[in-house]
Amino acid sequence: MVGENSENSTGRPNSPYGSVDTTGDSRAVSVCMLKGGVGKSTIAVNLARQLAAHDHEVLLIDLDPNGHASVGLGFDDHYHDTDESIGEVFFDDADPTAVIYGTDYEFDLLPSSEDLEQVEREIVVGDVFQPSALLQREVVEPLLGDEYDYIITDSPAYRSRLTDNALVATSNLVLPLAPGNEAISGLERTIERQIAPLRKHMDVDVLALVPNMLSGRIDQQTQDRQLLERLNSHSSLQDRIPNFARITDWEAVDAGELKPTPGIRDRTSITKAYGERKPLLDYDPDCDQLTCFDELAHIIEAGQVVRHD
Ligand SMILES: Nc1ncnc2c1ncn2[C@@H]1O[C@H](COP(=O)(O)OP(=O)(O)OP(=O)(O)O)[C@@H](O)[C@H]1O
Ligand SMILES: [Mg+2]
Repeated sequence: MVGENSENSTGRPNSPYGSVDTTGDSRAVSVCMLKGGVGKSTIAVNLARQLAAHDHEVLLIDLDPNGHASVGLGFDDHYHDTDESIGEVFFDDADPTAVIYGTDYEFDLLPSSEDLEQVEREIVVGDVFQPSALLQREVVEPLLGDEYDYIITDSPAYRSRLTDNALVATSNLVLPLAPGNEAISGLERTIERQIAPLRKHMDVDVLALVPNMLSGRIDQQTQDRQLLERLNSHSSLQDRIPNFARITDWEAVDAGELKPTPGIRDRTSITKAYGERKPLLDYDPDCDQLTCFDELAHIIEAGQVVRHD
C-alpha cells in the first residue's frame, strides 16, 4: 500500500525511475485508441491511482458512454443518475465540481452517465460555440493547475465529439495497444483520424505508446513480439515506448542471452481488480505489473519517457 512504501526526503515514495522533477507542470492526458478492449479504461484508472499515490491531486474524467471506468470504481448509481451529468456543466452552466466525486482511492472522478450519448448528440446538433472545446472551457481550464495537478480522461473506442473534446482539452495522449493483427492498424487509424486533424490546429503530444495484455513469448515470432518489434524499431515512435516495453537487442533475445518480460502483461489480478471495483494498487499491491503503471505515472509527471539506462 501507499503508506508502506519507503519515502525519500520530499515525502514522495521512492521510485525506480530516478529523480524526475515531479514539481513541474500540471498536465491533462487522454487515454485513447480507436480500437475496443485494448485497456484504455484499465490504464486510465490505474494511471490516476498511481499519480494519486505520488501525492498529486488527480481527477479522472470518464467520457465513455459505456461507463466501464465509473462502474469499475463502484459508481453505478451516479452512472444511472442522469440528473447530474457532465451535460449540466456543458449546457446548463453548472459548476464542474457539482458532478465530481471523491473515490476511496485518493483521486476524484467525474463519472460517465447513461445519458452521455444524448449529451454527444446535443453537442453535434445544438447551437454550441466551439463544440470540441466544451470540456476544455468548462472543466479542464477552470480546474487544472488549481484544484488538480493532473486530469486524466478515458475515452470510447470510436471517434465522437466527446473524444474530440477529450483530445482538445488535454493535448497529451497515452495510446494503449494490445497484441494482435489489428494493433498497428488501430494505431494508424487513431493517428490519421483523430490526431492528424487536430494537429492542424494545436500541438498534440503522444507521451506514451503502451503495449498491454502481453502474454506470449518474445523469443519466438508471436504477436507480442511482432507488436514490440514494430513499436521499438519505428523511428518516430520508439522514444514514446516506456522502459517496461523497450527492447533494442533482439539478437540477444534470440540467442537466449536476454530474457525480458515486457509489460503490461496479461494478469488475472488486473481483470479481478475491475470485478472487485478497485484499482490494482488497492486490489493487489504485490502485483508485479504495478511498476508499469507507476512508470506511466512518471511519464505523465515528466511529460515524456525518461530512459534510465
Ligand atoms: N493487462 C491486463 N491483464 C488482464 N486483463 C486486462 C489487462 N488489461 C485490461 N484487461 C481486461 O481486459 C478487458 C478490457 O479492458 P478495458 O476495459 O480497460 O479496455 P478498453 O480499451 O477500455 O475497452 P473499451 O474499448 O470497451 O472501452 C477488461 O476486462 C480488463 O479488466
Ligand atoms: Mg474503456
